[in-house]
Amino acid sequence: MSTPWLVEPAGPLVGELAVNGDKSVSHRSLLIGALCDGPVEVVGWGDSADTRATLEAVRALGVTVDDHGAGRLTVHGVGLTGLRPPVGSIDVRNAGTLMRLLSGIVAMQPSGVFTLDGDESIRRRPMERVAAPLRAMGAEIETTAGCPPVVVTAGTPLHGIEHVLEVASAQVKSAILLAGLRADGPTTVIEPTATRDHTERLLRAAGATVHSAGGRVTLVPPARLQLARIEVPGDISSAAFPIVAATLIPQSRIFLRGIGIGAGRTGLLDVLERMGGRIALFNRRLTDAGEPVADLEVAHAELSATSIGPDEIAGLVDELPIIALAACVARGRTRVRGAGELRVKESDRLESVRDALHGVGGHIEVRGDGWLIRGVPSRLRGGTVDPRGDHRIAMLGAVAGLYSEQGVTVTDPTAIDVSFPGFRALMQAATAVRR
Ligand code: S3P
Repeated sequence: MSTPWLVEPAGPLVGELAVNGDKSVSHRSLLIGALCDGPVEVVGWGDSADTRATLEAVRALGVTVDDHGAGRLTVHGVGLTGLRPPVGSIDVRNAGTLMRLLSGIVAMQPSGVFTLDGDESIRRRPMERVAAPLRAMGAEIETTAGCPPVVVTAGTPLHGIEHVLEVASAQVKSAILLAGLRADGPTTVIEPTATRDHTERLLRAAGATVHSAGGRVTLVPPARLQLARIEVPGDISSAAFPIVAATLIPQSRIFLRGIGIGAGRTGLLDVLERMGGRIALFNRRLTDAGEPVADLEVAHAELSATSIGPDEIAGLVDELPIIALAACVARGRTRVRGAGELRVKESDRLESVRDALHGVGGHIEVRGDGWLIRGVPSRLRGGTVDPRGDHRIAMLGAVAGLYSEQGVTVTDPTAIDVSFPGFRALMQAATAVRR
């Protein structure tokens, strides 16, 4: 347990803020980089506990990665079939993305037994959603009562399948596509609603044929992957916290450069715009690995309530905790529906967000698979937030503290390191002008 963090009420957020590299793309830069023929340069890699787990995992699988510091890595790819099973299990720690994607990758290796395990929270996360389609492809994979540890015995021939996802999940889609890299024919995943497409973009940049249209994603197995350089965009899911803080606190105006605005990631911006937020996007471009990025300018605005339906959830799944905070201080009632996936994230976020916001004076109830939030347009009272080991709940508590009357104590802020180790320093610098 670390020292509690008392976040005091703050004045405006001002200036240019730099967030860490996107977590989803950082994981994939290592995992897909490892499968390439020859070296892949990665720039802007987001260093965090989760992505360090991926760095250690690929090294344990026999891949050399040079860490030059400041987000620059060289991944010496071993090709599609070059991973070697480590002695003992691979520890994914808290990283669900690593657990899911790596299951697909090791399943298509030519031989070896791979055991994937992680922390207490990972051991509660559903794995049959990945294991069942991999089995349908021909993989040998065992879960532990549906959860990690997971044991994959590689070497069975894999077949291309057509799989309809039961839940909209980029992790499940990616695991299936990655296994499909060595299937005997094309692999198709059909999504109920579009999810983030970083795997498809990176595989395409590495020379694979991936078609996406009308909710169907089809990968044709490539002979090899090759990719010179991956620029990792800024993480919109980390930026979400200063974006909402700047929106709430009067006289704020912040700039964020090179933020990833790819498909399935920008739901937060749409929702804030509907609520009255003032966010401008400019300097839009594509990175050389095909990721859309833009610079963002965010200014304070008065917010009003909105309604968020099931079709929107995949595009803002990681941003729902901070959206719930915005809704608590917006004018009117906000209803969120179809967010049952929040129950199987790093914590049961339907409950943990409700409890965190209750604890600081918000009016929020869990209703079915969503929330009903009664917004009161003024600073929150303040209080204490127990993040329950969940990084996004800890950062939610900190933003609540900045926009509170009495401040918020985040009981254990260490979880923040899972995705955004620089968060505390960034928020302190941005709010250096006191109220
Ligand atoms: C991720 C996908 C999402 C998201 C997670 C990262 C990814 O999970 O919540 O933080 O990198 O593919 P699901 O796709 O399982 O919803």
